Amino acid sequence: MAGSTLEIKNLHVEIEGNEILKGVNLTIKGGEFHAIMGPNGTGKSTLASAIMGHPHYDITEGSVLLDGKEVLDMEVDERAHAGLFLGMQYPSEISGVTTSDFLRSSINAQREEGNEISLMNFIKEMDRVLDELDIDKNMAQRYLNEGFSGGEKKRNEILQLMLLKPEIAILDEIDSGLDIDALKVVAKGVNEMRSNSFGCLIITHYQRLLNYITPDQVHVMLDGRVVKSGGPDLAKRLEDEGYEWLKQEAGLEDKNSGQEV
Ligand SMILES: Nc1ncnc2c1ncn2[C@@H]1O[C@H](COP(=O)(O)OP(=O)(O)OP(=O)(O)O)[C@@H](O)[C@H]1O
Ligand SMILES: [Mg+2]
Repeated sequence: MAGSTLEIKNLHVEIEGNEILKGVNLTIKGGEFHAIMGPNGTGKSTLASAIMGHPHYDITEGSVLLDGKEVLDMEVDERAHAGLFLGMQYPSEISGVTTSDFLRSSINAQREEGNEISLMNFIKEMDRVLDELDIDKNMAQRYLNEGFSGGEKKRNEILQLMLLKPEIAILDEIDSGLDIDALKVVAKGVNEMRSNSFGCLIITHYQRLLNYITPDQVHVMLDGRVVKSGGPDLAKRLEDEGYEWLKQEAGLEDKNSGQEV
């Protein structure tokens, strides 16, 4: 299968009247891994949430197409059904729903009625992925994310990713809070997803993650726009030199310097 294409075109997003995204353009195709980096507060999570249909975000201009279909016209559950997945920077705790029940319902929500995954196959598949991600099996029986440590929540997002097998995934800071071994385990999980029918947008602050998950392209977001794109070398340069040179190149002065942005 050729895989899906996600096209973000001139996306403008406001939160409570403040424009956060000011015209984002980005295309992710099946088989491609893209990374987005950028300083705090530049709109990376806003981009992820707006694509997934979070109600706080007003889309004022632009479009997001999945294989030519307008994602912004879809209900939130339709977006997941169409093959989009968001691994969240701050996953929510859901009391009363076990991780295992949540995962099984999510898988079945993607399937046609009458074609639900059998309990036995689900458990087999879940156990396999739990092993692979080095997650304690008891965790699946706990309420979703409730009391999970920061790193456990992140691993749990990757567990969902690997079981749901979306066409296009946006992973928002899946590396934050992970210890070194967990980082490798999570990277292994994401790498295992690599195929022509899977495209991925990885939001991260740290080049280190990209040593384990090699991106095809690296994009830098500043002040609500993608201002630079390049190969993995771009991430290395950011690690060494920070963002100042890019702010200057993009004509954005540092806020701390007291000059207008
Ligand atoms: N509900 C809200 N009300 C007002 N401002 C908001 C709201 N949500 C987000 N913002 C603002 O939007 C901007 C972009 O936030 P966003 O979370 O997208 O940044 P980010 O690039 O993901 O940052 P980080 O790297 O710290 O995760 C920030 O200045 C943030 O304060
Ligand atoms: Mg963020």
